[in-house]
Amino acid sequence: MLTGNRILLIVTGGIAAYKTLELIRRLKERNAAVRCVLTRAGAQFVTPLSLAAISGDAVYDDLFSLTAEAEMGHIELSRDADLLVVAPATADILAKMAAGIADDLATTVLLATDKPVLVAPAMNVRMWEHPATRANIETLAARGVMRAGPGVGDMACGEFGEGRMAEPDEILGAIEAFFRGEGAAVTPSGGAPGQKRPLAGRRALVTSGPTHEAIDPVRYIANRSSGKQGHAIARALAGMGADTTLVSGPTGLADPPGMTVVHVESACDMLDACTQALPVDIAVCAAAVSDWRAADEAAQKIKKNGGGPPRLELTENPDILLTLARADNMRPGLLVGFAAETEKVIAHAKAKRKKKGVDWILANDVSPGTGTFGGDRNVIHLIDDSGVEDWPAMSKDGVARRLAERIADHIAAKS
Ligand SMILES: Cc1cc2nc3c(=O)[nH]c(=O)nc-3n(C[C@H](O)[C@H](O)[C@H](O)COP(=O)(O)O)c2cc1C
Repeated sequence: MLTGNRILLIVTGGIAAYKTLELIRRLKERNAAVRCVLTRAGAQFVTPLSLAAISGDAVYDDLFSLTAEAEMGHIELSRDADLLVVAPATADILAKMAAGIADDLATTVLLATDKPVLVAPAMNVRMWEHPATRANIETLAARGVMRAGPGVGDMACGEFGEGRMAEPDEILGAIEAFFRGEGAAVTPSGGAPGQKRPLAGRRALVTSGPTHEAIDPVRYIANRSSGKQGHAIARALAGMGADTTLVSGPTGLADPPGMTVVHVESACDMLDACTQALPVDIAVCAAAVSDWRAADEAAQKIKKNGGGPPRLELTENPDILLTLARADNMRPGLLVGFAAETEKVIAHAKAKRKKKGVDWILANDVSPGTGTFGGDRNVIHLIDDSGVEDWPAMSKDGVARRLAERIADHIAAKS
């Protein structure tokens, strides 16, 4: 029951708006007080009359309505609720929320509120996978905006993929979980509150991003890893309930909420942070750790002295994956590594798995033409004892979710 809980439901201009009527009905059945705000585009899909009839309250759609402002000002509207739910949440409203735009009643209310916000995105798969939407979702997640869905399936536009609004029952589940106080108000973007938490009680360690190996105080050796894949995996594992530590090299990404994030620079620092996080049930090493570092880091900036370029001596970095694999009684229950290759991807990845004693290797091609480093999509080949599993091209979030589900299935099968 949601007796006494006040929900401000913001309905935006997506085809899935018709499902929102069902959501309101379910919320009302559970005695929640539901009040609706409708965008101009939203009114193309559902009428204010239907929303008013089902919610049993006035529908607000005009920022500059004198009567509405006198009865219930926009600031009051945004504060007179326990939870704001945006369903469906269009690509447009997510972009405006991320940018802090307030150019109509819905966006103004969202900017003015001091209450928790849950979004149920709904859009075409290309819109969902567009880097702009990915970045907006990251920004909102980092601010603690909760998310339910979207799911994968057939779309009204005739395409298939990720972007379908979560079903009313799933959104309801997320709302009920929020009011039960389950999960934090800040939910990792890899999963909605109320989703299955098959990794609850498990500890996970994820490494992500590049390492920086100092040459002198201003220069370093680095690589092109963005950290997007590793961060997405950490979010997906945390979203499934794992107590997650993310050890991140220098990236431009916001810290995902709902987990412990340890920031490191070099491979040696990353190894220290990883060993301190042990013991764990799951370790996913997605960081692109530099194989080498400068043998002698100069204490002062190396200057041009007219005698030609300085000689840069390299020394090998510690092997984090190998160290974890050989950690005796501290070895992670399931150790997953990445193999970033530019040629003979499968053969090199298989050799790496054997040499390092890793359970699973996720091989990906990082040749410049693939756009894997820094991009939002990835093509994975999962190699384990039983052979090679080729995954289709997916968003990095999609890869993360599929991996987290596979990990959860593996752990469930073993226990
Ligand atoms: C038939 C039709 C269906 C649409 N469905 C969606 C959708 O599912 N998701 C989305 O993000 N935008 C969709 N759009 C585009 C939005 O309506 C448009 O971006 C609008 O500006 C959103 O405004 P709002 O966010 O203020 O409601 C659709 C447009 C049309 C014409």
